[in-house]
Amino acid sequence: MRVVNIAHPGGAEVMEYLDRPDPEIGVGQVLVGVTAAGVNFMDIGVRQGNFWREIPYPKTLGVEGAGRVLALGAGVQGFALGQRVAWVYAPGSYADKVVIPAASLVPLPDGIDDRTAAALMMQGLTASHFATDFYPVQTGDIALVHAAAGGLGLLLTQIIKLRGGTVIGRVSSSDKVAAAKEAGADHVIVDRDGGFAEEAIRVSGGEGVHVVYDGSGPTTFQGSLNALRTSGTLAWFGPVLGAPAPIDIMSLPKSIKIGYPSFAHHIRTPELLLSRSTQLFDWVLKGQLQVRIGREYRLEDAAQAHADMESRASTGKLLLIP
Ligand SMILES: NC(=O)c1ccc[n+]([C@@H]2O[C@H](COP(=O)([O-])OP(=O)(O)OC[C@H]3O[C@@H](n4cnc5c(N)ncnc54)[C@H](OP(=O)(O)O)[C@@H]3O)[C@@H](O)[C@H]2O)c1
Repeated sequence: MRVVNIAHPGGAEVMEYLDRPDPEIGVGQVLVGVTAAGVNFMDIGVRQGNFWREIPYPKTLGVEGAGRVLALGAGVQGFALGQRVAWVYAPGSYADKVVIPAASLVPLPDGIDDRTAAALMMQGLTASHFATDFYPVQTGDIALVHAAAGGLGLLLTQIIKLRGGTVIGRVSSSDKVAAAKEAGADHVIVDRDGGFAEEAIRVSGGEGVHVVYDGSGPTTFQGSLNALRTSGTLAWFGPVLGAPAPIDIMSLPKSIKIGYPSFAHHIRTPELLLSRSTQLFDWVLKGQLQVRIGREYRLEDAAQAHADMESRASTGKLLLIP
């Protein structure tokens, strides 16, 4: 099998494309042939050595993808050879084969192609957690969405719109405005340095927004707090880009709430993984949710995908095609 490994932490240059023996399949596990693997910011965090410290080097990167069942381990029920499946969290997904616990797989309906599924799992489940569970957006709510032209931002914008909210998107350059608007953003702020709050407050009619979704690192944190209205909610979710400075709780304004939602809590049982993935697939099948694939790379070009994501030049989802 072919894999993208790292032997030690570092920049994109530490990623190696290698031949490895096929993995062994354990009880309750499934061997999947990967047809598309998603690139996520957390893969960059793993590459940098900030996550998966418990997994020894060399490590195969990647957590998400879609593909076909190649073999079934003992005790696996409910899956058949050749069946199309997708997953959101299976370490080692930057590969042409990966072994995954059956409980972490979802079957793919006919109308959802492999690339769409690979692009949807992590960012779609994260977006649905944020907008339907962590802060259930209500009709009339105004949301500020950071990195609104990224894979997550585009899906989050659409789900907020489906729920009747208004979206103010924030992007780092003007060439991303069109993508954010196409996803439904009502207003887009171009800002890279954290100076967006004043415009967000003005656009929200002077009171500030009901909710901010901020995975953009320390630069945006204070502006996100400033942009909230009284009793607003800040969903902070960007550990890879770094935490803000410690907060003095006495300095917090306006009865606001701050939380750190994680997609893992949205799919904490196999039943929730299935029902919440099915909801996403239904939205796509009904034409209510569009998946924008920004760029596809060969598996051996995974380092370029990381470099593109870190350069802030990408829009939509980046995929690796083994
Ligand atoms: N808590 C969770 O459960 C969870 C799950 C998934 C993802 N996340 C987080 O969500 C964020 C988006 O991740 P993703 O994998 O879904 O990718 P993504 O949405 O495609 O994000 C890419 C966007 O991130 C922004 N970006 C890139 N480098 C940056 C930098 N150095 N500083 C600030 N912004 C930068 C860029 O937007 P602009 O240049 O337009 O700002 C880029 O378009 C990450 O912080 C990730 O850790 C959290």
